[in-house]
Amino acid sequence: MSEVKVWDVFVRVFHWSLVICFGLNALVLDDESKWHQWVGYMVAGLVAFRILWGFFGTKHARFSDFPPSLSAALGQLRGMLTRPTSLHVGHTPLGALMIYNLIFTLLAICASGYLMTTDMFWGVEWPETVHEAAVHWAEISVVLHVAAVVFESLRTRVNLPRAMVTGYKRLP
Ligand code: HEM
Ligand code: HEM
Repeated sequence: MSEVKVWDVFVRVFHWSLVICFGLNALVLDDESKWHQWVGYMVAGLVAFRILWGFFGTKHARFSDFPPSLSAALGQLRGMLTRPTSLHVGHTPLGALMIYNLIFTLLAICASGYLMTTDMFWGVEWPETVHEAAVHWAEISVVLHVAAVVFESLRTRVNLPRAMVTGYKRLP
């Protein structure tokens, strides 16, 4: 068993703050309240910082460490069926696709939410339609994301949620 440092403190704080803020807005807060908008702006701020960190952050936080690649993701799926467990230190190709999906969806949610609050788009229907659809898509994605994290943790015997807390992966 070896311990490898994977996630810096910023990635970890970003992740769990995002979980709390997204959960508050999707499940707890009244969407007509000012709190909804403030928490929504926090999500926008977190995602903006994460995008910057994707260029200037530590090794495994950088987008160059997990480029979006459909062929690599398909290769990972094939590998799951044919090869003995292969381990990744940073994000896997499938995980990477999910992360880009979540980041773009969160940006669409925040942009459409902001438009709804402007005079120019007051009473215009499409920002609300986009906001609702993007929130639904984000919720479906989060369920898949968490299921994949649990599945991969069991399959590879690397506790991924623990690594997102401590910053270290324990590789067998
Ligand atoms: C992750 C961030 C966010 C989530 C999960 C979220 C979620 C939601 C949900 C579930 C609704 C109800 C949609 C419906 O009517 O079925 C809603 C409505 C709304 N959201 Fe958000 N939202 C987020 C960010 C934002 C932001 C950044 C703003 C604006 C600054 C915003 C402004 C609004 C407004 C104005 C409504 C309509 C409220 C009304 O019916 O009067 N949201 N949001
Ligand atoms: C309790 C529920 C959740 C758990 C246990 C969880 C767990 C994880 C884990 C373990 C990773 C790292 C995956 C890897 O090793 O490659 C991760 C990454 C990520 N998760 Fe979650 N997650 C949860 C909820 C969410 C939610 C609600 C969102 C967003 C709405 C989210 C967005 C992300 C993003 C954007 C990343 C990439 C992190 C980065 O590189 O900055 N997660 N999550």
